[in-house]
Amino acid sequence: MLKHGGYAKGILDFSVNVNPCVTQALLMPYMEEAVGEIGRYPDILGNSLVEKIAETEKISVDHIIVGNGASDCLYTCARALKPQTVLIIEPTFTEYRRAFEGVGSHVLSLSINLSEHPDSIEEKLIHQIRKIKSDMVVLCNPNNPTGGVYSEAFIEQIIKIQASHKGFVLIDASFRQFEGLPTYFDEKRWNLIVLMSLTKYYGVPGLRCGYLMATKSVIMAMKEHQVPWSVNSLALEVMPRLIEDKELNKATQEWYQAEKSKMVKALSDLSFTKPMKSHANFICCRLSNVSGYDLNQWLLKQVPPMALRTCDDFVGMGDAFIRIGLKDALSNDRLIEALKHYEEEVYG
Ligand SMILES: Cc1ncc(COP(=O)(O)O)c(C=O)c1O
Repeated sequence: MLKHGGYAKGILDFSVNVNPCVTQALLMPYMEEAVGEIGRYPDILGNSLVEKIAETEKISVDHIIVGNGASDCLYTCARALKPQTVLIIEPTFTEYRRAFEGVGSHVLSLSINLSEHPDSIEEKLIHQIRKIKSDMVVLCNPNNPTGGVYSEAFIEQIIKIQASHKGFVLIDASFRQFEGLPTYFDEKRWNLIVLMSLTKYYGVPGLRCGYLMATKSVIMAMKEHQVPWSVNSLALEVMPRLIEDKELNKATQEWYQAEKSKMVKALSDLSFTKPMKSHANFICCRLSNVSGYDLNQWLLKQVPPMALRTCDDFVGMGDAFIRIGLKDALSNDRLIEALKHYEEEVYG
């Protein structure tokens, strides 16, 4: 059953991870121009957007497919490749499991011990990946919900290990832009598939848009399985404008630097939240002496009501973690004030 995707209007919603710099005022002129296109069918494969992405990623259009969000690309990929065994590095975004189980794949979790040092985590993962020889390894980089990243050496190594038995590696790089991290995509790497959401960095989850980069044969197989007109006319018109918007990019980077460091410091200063090192626009915290569920319930009763992402449905996390998506400065300050208030109320 689907569980998350945000709370109702009127709730200050920190459970979502989208860029708040993309405002209605910024979108409106782009939307108004795009409305004229609604009376026509969009291009069946979204080719104008494919071209824009090819230009920014500096790769050929043959290596790209666009879809109705990264989720749509993920499900199309699962239908096209139907891998027999899929290894997912967890805890991570829950849709990978649903997508591959939906096409009959045998899905295994490789769970990370979040208390361990990254070097030893990677060493153990390599050992397991080499041993299991799955048809597909899935990882998220930066990872949702922890915000952690894998080392370049680790990624290079698993691509090599997987290639040695004709297996794929799927990297979800949907949150990479906040810190300008690489996708690792290279036209010569036949077994690397990179998934990218455009709804996070460009703050448009309701518009739905994402893409996937892979070798030509994978893209061709996906086109055979894709629902036609997957990217709507509004997204086809608006997305290239957002991608080109240098002012938006600058504002996003300034907001990200300022709010991220402010929130990490504020959360470290509280006695019951321990922020994990994050490379994305959200911060995962380990809680002490309170469950994520209870804290969220308490926040929902405040004025204004607020919500966090509880993490109990992520494999290996349980209820001792929460994830906070960064919002505008004022909203972030309100959350910190509320958490300080909670600290006083509960711990005196
Ligand atoms: C890691 C990750 N990948 C993909 C998605 C889906 O993105 P989209 O809105 O483009 O379908 C999400 C959504 O939360 C996500 O967290």
